[in-house]
Amino acid sequence: MSNFKSFVPLVLQFFILQASACSRVAYTSGAQDGNRTIIGRSMDWLIPTNSSLYAFPAGIQRNGRAGNNSVQWISKYGSVITTAYDLASVDGMNTEGLVVNMLYLADGDYGARNSSKPAMSLSLWLQYFLDNYATASEAASDLYDANGEAKYQVRSKEVVQGVPSLQHLSIGDAMGDNLILEWIDGKLVSHHSKDYTVMTNEPQFTQQLAINDYWSPISNSSLPGTDRPADRFARLSHYRAYVPVATDMISAVANTAGMIRAVSVPNEPTGISTPNISPTLWRTYSDTLAKTYFWESATTAFFFWTDLSQFDLSKNGTIMRLPLMNVDWTRRVGDMKANFVKAPSFNFLECDS
Ligand SMILES: *[C@@H]1O[C@H](CO)[C@@H](O)[C@H](O)[C@H]1NC(C)=O
Ligand SMILES: *[C@@H]1O[C@H](CO)[C@@H](O)[C@H](O)[C@H]1NC(C)=O
Ligand SMILES: *[C@@H]1O[C@H](CO)[C@@H](O)[C@H](O)[C@H]1NC(C)=O
Ligand SMILES: *[C@@H]1O[C@H](CO)[C@@H](O)[C@H](O)[C@H]1NC(C)=O
Ligand SMILES: *[C@@H]1O[C@H](CO)[C@@H](O)[C@H](O)[C@H]1NC(C)=O
Ligand SMILES: *[C@@H]1O[C@H](CO)[C@@H](O)[C@H](O)[C@H]1NC(C)=O
Repeated sequence: MSNFKSFVPLVLQFFILQASACSRVAYTSGAQDGNRTIIGRSMDWLIPTNSSLYAFPAGIQRNGRAGNNSVQWISKYGSVITTAYDLASVDGMNTEGLVVNMLYLADGDYGARNSSKPAMSLSLWLQYFLDNYATASEAASDLYDANGEAKYQVRSKEVVQGVPSLQHLSIGDAMGDNLILEWIDGKLVSHHSKDYTVMTNEPQFTQQLAINDYWSPISNSSLPGTDRPADRFARLSHYRAYVPVATDMISAVANTAGMIRAVSVPNEPTGISTPNISPTLWRTYSDTLAKTYFWESATTAFFFWTDLSQFDLSKNGTIMRLPLMNVDWTRRVGDMKANFVKAPSFNFLECDS
């Protein structure tokens, strides 16, 4: 009986930990195109993300929403972001061209709460970087205290019942630099390099690099084809290595989109091609040179964008929202500036344990 009891949660855990995905790539075009960096990502998730877009100006007072000793800050930069459930920022770009993407990492572990350390809810972790930093280097140099420990903790709680909220971040900037952040065994682990253009999901980043070392020398003739994260990592790394160098913005966006679409997961009955992998719901392409945020639905046939310079994202600006739930999708095509409406901020999910 006791064997049976421990078996059931294991099976459940296997299902849950395999339940979500996402892929990310940073692309840089040629000197003729101003070395434009575009960061593309897919959002693969087991149920709809009930998203909206928000334009947040500078000067917003933030609270880390992690109970006592929450990190407090005032946004230095404005940003445009995508929410999940209007509870968390999960993707976005700021006015300096810093891009942050949140992806699932089943192997993540935020550790136990140490109440003498400041903390923030996972719902604001991505927003914290958009609010505070202009480049990946700047963010990388402000992660740890003098003892080499993370300056703050991240706290998380379930949003979708039965699915632990475990995420890692990829940060990219207009110079093509990258910073990957993962919480492993309660410690913040960072990987900083222009070479780290690709990220998917579990296992942790160092292991993805090791697996890719096997595939990369033979990738011209052989690549793994399932939707599992390590397979998507190998394929996306191969596409990134040989993608043509664009000479204009249109083809730079198209090249980025082509790579992300090629590692997207079709909408299919779960378990047909790869067991327990979620379908792609949407994709974004953040152009760090034009400061334009492209958003592509994978559950409708529509594609739109928004140019950050069309908003007042200075301290004088106001928060604007673009709803994506229960809207006429034929109005979610092309430039979205006119469709944003003034709105209060959503309430970031609190997590005080
Ligand atoms: C683009 O990159 C090349 C090679 O690194 C460099 O020589 C050139 O100055 C860069 N151009 C711009 C506009 O940054
Ligand atoms: C997403 O929206 C649908 C439709 O309004 C709702 O039924 C569902 O509960 C929402 N999901 C979450 C996690 O909020
Ligand atoms: C927060 O701090 C107050 C005052 O110090 C204390 O009474 C309360 O128990 C603390 N709450 C938590 C969740 O630690
Ligand atoms: C909690 O954090 C404080 C301040 O950083 C540190 O001195 C202490 O060792 C930590 N406690 C544990 C159990 O890690
Ligand atoms: C793969 O093909 C490209 C394009 O032909 C070539 O430049 C590259 O050297 C090849 N890589 C390997 C590892 O054979
Ligand atoms: C904000 O508005 C004030 C008053 O209209 C103006 O003086 C100031 O230049 C504006 N600041 C920015 C950053 O636009």
